[in-house]
Amino acid sequence: MQFIDLAAQQKRIRNELETAVKTVMDHGRYIMGPEVKELEERLADYAGTRYAVGCASGTDALLMVLMAYKIGPGDAVFTTPFTFVATAEVISLLGATPVFVDIDPITFNIDPQKLEEAIRTSVQALNPRGIIGVDLFGLPAEYDEINKIAEKFNLFVVEDAAQSFGAEYRGKKACALANAACTSFFPAKPLGCYGDGGAVFTDDPDIAERLISIRVHGQGREGEKYKNVRIGVNGRLDTIQAAVLNVKMTIFPDEVERRIRAASIYSAGLSGCDYLTTPSTPDGLTSVWAQYSILADTPERRDQILQALKDNAIPTSIYYPIPLHLQKAFSNLGHKPGAFPISEDYAERIFSIPMHPYLDEKAQTKIIEILASVQK
Ligand SMILES: Cc1ncc(COP(=O)(O)O)c(C=O)c1O
Repeated sequence: MQFIDLAAQQKRIRNELETAVKTVMDHGRYIMGPEVKELEERLADYAGTRYAVGCASGTDALLMVLMAYKIGPGDAVFTTPFTFVATAEVISLLGATPVFVDIDPITFNIDPQKLEEAIRTSVQALNPRGIIGVDLFGLPAEYDEINKIAEKFNLFVVEDAAQSFGAEYRGKKACALANAACTSFFPAKPLGCYGDGGAVFTDDPDIAERLISIRVHGQGREGEKYKNVRIGVNGRLDTIQAAVLNVKMTIFPDEVERRIRAASIYSAGLSGCDYLTTPSTPDGLTSVWAQYSILADTPERRDQILQALKDNAIPTSIYYPIPLHLQKAFSNLGHKPGAFPISEDYAERIFSIPMHPYLDEKAQTKIIEILASVQK
C-alpha cells in the first residue's frame, strides 16, 4: 500500500503526459515556454484570481511574495508554529521576525483570537507587517476573521495554500482568500508535478508585476532583460513541469472529489473510536485532504497505533513532530517548551494515514479495522 499513490494517477494519464513532455522537447523552449503561460491562465481561472504566477517551488512562492511586500529586518510576520518549516523560514531568510501564534484545537490552523493578542503585544518591539495563514492538511484557515484583523492593523495577508489548492471556503476557492496566496506543486501535493514547482495567486496588479520581475532576477519590463530594477531570484517554473501540470489539471476536479469521498469513508469508519479524534471541517469549508491526520488520545497510544499499522505494511507519517518554535533553526527567537501548548501537545499525538484519490475502499476498511482495534 502507498501513502500517496502517484503511480495509479500516472497510469490514468500516461499517454497525455508523454505527449505533453514530447511537445516541450520538440519546441525546445525549456525556460518560460508557452506551457507556463497556459498553466498560469488555467490556475487563475480555477482559483478565481486575476493573476497566477508560476514559480520554482512553494518555498520560492512564499519568498517571492514576501519580497514583493518588501519584508525586511525589524518587520514582524505572524504565522503558526504548526506547519512545514518553509512558512517561517522565508520570513527569517529576509531578516524579519516570525512571530508565532498557536493553533485552533479543532482546525489545526492559526487561532484568530490569539493572532490579535500577538499583534497587539508585538507592536512595541517590532513593526507588524503581515500574516501568513497556513491551510494545514488542505483545510483553509479562518480568513474572514484573519482578514478583518489584518485590516484593523493595516497588515497584508498571505495564504500558505501549499496543501490546499482545490479546497473551498464559503463560496471561494483556496488561493483566492487573501491578498496573495502561495501553493506548491511538490509531487505529493494535491496538485503535484514531477519535480519542484509552485505558484503565487493575487488580484493585485502591483504585486503581480513585482512577482514577475522578482522571479527573474528583478528584471525590468518585457524586453528589458538586462535591466534590473530590484533584487530578485531565479524562481521560474520549468516548462516541462508546467506541461505535466496542464495534463494533471484536466483530472484534478475529479481527484478532489475522490479525496473528499475517501476522507468521508475514514471519518465514518472511525467515528465510534473513542481514543481517536478525526479531523473536522467547519460549515461552508471543504478540505482537499492533502493529509488525513488523526489525533490519538495519548502519545503512547500513537506509538501503539503506528506500530500496528507498520506490522500490517501500512505507511504512516507524522506532520509535524516538532513545532517550529522548538526547532534549532529558530532558537534565536528564544522560545521555551510551553510557549505554544496546543501545537506542542498535538505534535506528540498526531499521525497521518494513506490519502490519495486512488485509495480503494477495501484498503480503507483494513486501515479502519486496525485503528479501531488497538488494545486499551
Ligand atoms: C505548508 C507548506 N508551506 C510551504 C511548503 C513549501 O513548498 P515546496 O516544498 O514546494 O517548497 C510546503 C511543502 O511541503 C508546505 O507544506
